[in-house]
Amino acid sequence: MLDIETLCAADRDESPVKTVLTADQLAEGVGRLAIEAEAYYRGRPITILGVLTGSVVLVSDLIRRVNLPVRIGFVEASSYRGPSTAPGDLRLRVSPTPSIAGQHVLVVDDIFDTGHTMTALLAQLKELGPASLRSMVLLRKHGRKAVSMEPDHVGFEIPNEFVVGYGLDYQDGYRNLPYVAALEPGDIVDDNP
Ligand code: IMP
Ligand code: MG
Repeated sequence: MLDIETLCAADRDESPVKTVLTADQLAEGVGRLAIEAEAYYRGRPITILGVLTGSVVLVSDLIRRVNLPVRIGFVEASSYRGPSTAPGDLRLRVSPTPSIAGQHVLVVDDIFDTGHTMTALLAQLKELGPASLRSMVLLRKHGRKAVSMEPDHVGFEIPNEFVVGYGLDYQDGYRNLPYVAALEPGDIVDDNP
């Protein structure tokens, strides 16, 4: 597994790690997502529900860019992966504070891969009676979708590679990288499915 110095050197073209999105590109994408949300909600108050843990960086940047009255809550979703990058059992903990009954809810996640996480989350949240329910993801992985829904707002479409940084992890590491990088197949214990 790569160490943090090697990954941080990627921005300086000193390591084999491939930068997929730079910090500047991410800032531009988050600004775009904020403008999309403003255009859709047109001044209405919204409740942003971040999906822990991967969305924390996006949520913290987004809430400072979006010019709407905003409440913030979090829900938990984890598809256990371990050293492999293949998704495992999906576990959800959905009991958001503040309450979402009657609220315009925007669910925010780091990445839409197969789509199983977002689909299951939206189904459970719908039971809690929001006035409206939409989804936003920073990244959408090309050619991986295994569900019928599409996220309502997408920051970037990326190739089918396992990526880390800006909230995304590999074995709980790398979430604090300020950019998004693809792990090389040799850095991953098992092959991507
Ligand atoms: P999905 O249910 O297949 O759409 O997977 C979504 C979840 O898997 C995301 O919320 C991430 O936690 C995780 N995930 C999917 N692809 C990646 C990746 O390339 N890097 C890090 N995490 C990922
Ligand atoms: Mg996640």
